[in-house]
Amino acid sequence: MARPKIALIGAGQIGGTLAHLAAIKELGDVVLFDIAEGTPQGKALDIAESGPAEGFDGSFKGTNDYADIAGADVCIVTAGVPRKPGMSRDDLLGINLKVMKSVGEGIAAHAPDAFVICITNPLDAMVWALQQFSGLPAQKVVGMAGVLDSARFRHFLSLEFGVSMRDVNAFVLGGHGDTMVPLARYSTVGGIPLPDLVQMGWTTQEKLDAIIQRTRDGGAEIVGLLKTGSAFYAPATSAIEMAEAYLKDQKRVLPCAAYVKGALGLDGLYVGVPTVIGAKGIEKVIDIKLNKDEQAMFDKSVDAVKGLVEACKGIDSTLA
Ligand code: LMR
Repeated sequence: MARPKIALIGAGQIGGTLAHLAAIKELGDVVLFDIAEGTPQGKALDIAESGPAEGFDGSFKGTNDYADIAGADVCIVTAGVPRKPGMSRDDLLGINLKVMKSVGEGIAAHAPDAFVICITNPLDAMVWALQQFSGLPAQKVVGMAGVLDSARFRHFLSLEFGVSMRDVNAFVLGGHGDTMVPLARYSTVGGIPLPDLVQMGWTTQEKLDAIIQRTRDGGAEIVGLLKTGSAFYAPATSAIEMAEAYLKDQKRVLPCAAYVKGALGLDGLYVGVPTVIGAKGIEKVIDIKLNKDEQAMFDKSVDAVKGLVEACKGIDSTLA
C-alpha cells in the first residue's frame, strides 16, 4: 500500500516542526513547500539526514513548486506571517488573507482530495477564507486551534493539581482569539469536573479563573517571550494529532475550528467546536449544550469571528 502523502505549506518554524514530527511518527512521505528558495529544500534534507539516527524511513522533499504537492492526502497550512509582541492575531488579517488566496488556489489545483488543516492566523477567518478560495468540501477544511488551546488549558491544570496531564481533560470552544471560551464545566481531572474540584477545596475559584485567563493569553505569552515569532512546538503537535486522526480513521473527539451549520445554534460559520475526526474529515460536530453564562461567552466569540469574516469580504470582493 502506498504511504500517505503529507504536504506542508509553509516551511517556517511550525512547518519544519510538523515535518520532523510527521517523520518521527512515520505518518507518510512529506513534501515541504515554501516560496522562499532553499528553505524547504534545506529543512527537508536536514530531516531526512536525521532518519538513520532516529530510525525512520520516508521521503522528504523540499520545493517551491505547488505541482509537487500533487495528490496529497493531508495539507497543513502554516504559510503567512506570525504576530510580534504588542500585536493581536487580528492584525494579521489583511496580509495573511492574500497568502490564503494563493495557497487555496494551489491546493485546489493540485491536491483537491486532501484533508486541509489551517494554522495561519487569525485562525477562524483564515480557515473560512481558505475553504472559499480552494472550493474544497467544508468537512475537509479545518482549523487547528481548539486542540492547542485545550492542550494549554490541560497543561496549566496539571501544574495546579500536581497530576499527570494524561488525567486532565479540557475543552476550549469558540474563536482562537481573546474571546475563546475555556469550558470549566466540561473539563475534568480524573473524570471530576473542575467546579466540583473547587467545591471539594482542591483549588479555589480565583486560581481557576487565573488559569482560564492564562489559557486565553497562551499564544501572547509565548509571543512575548520569543519576541521574534510565535509558538511552534505545541501548534505543530496539535495539527499532527488532527492529521493522524484523519489518516488512521481514529474517530478522535477533538475541538477544532470546523464549519458549523445547525449545531450550537449556528447558521454556517467556522468556529471552535468539539468534533469527531475520522477518514471522512469532520465526521460530526458535537452539539454541546451550554448554560446561560457559557452561551453568552460563546456568542461573544462567535460575533468576533463573524466580524473578521466580514472584514475579509471587505478586503477581497471575490469572497461571498
Ligand atoms: C498561538 O496561539 O500560539 C498562535 O495562534 C500564535 C499566536 O500568535 O498566538
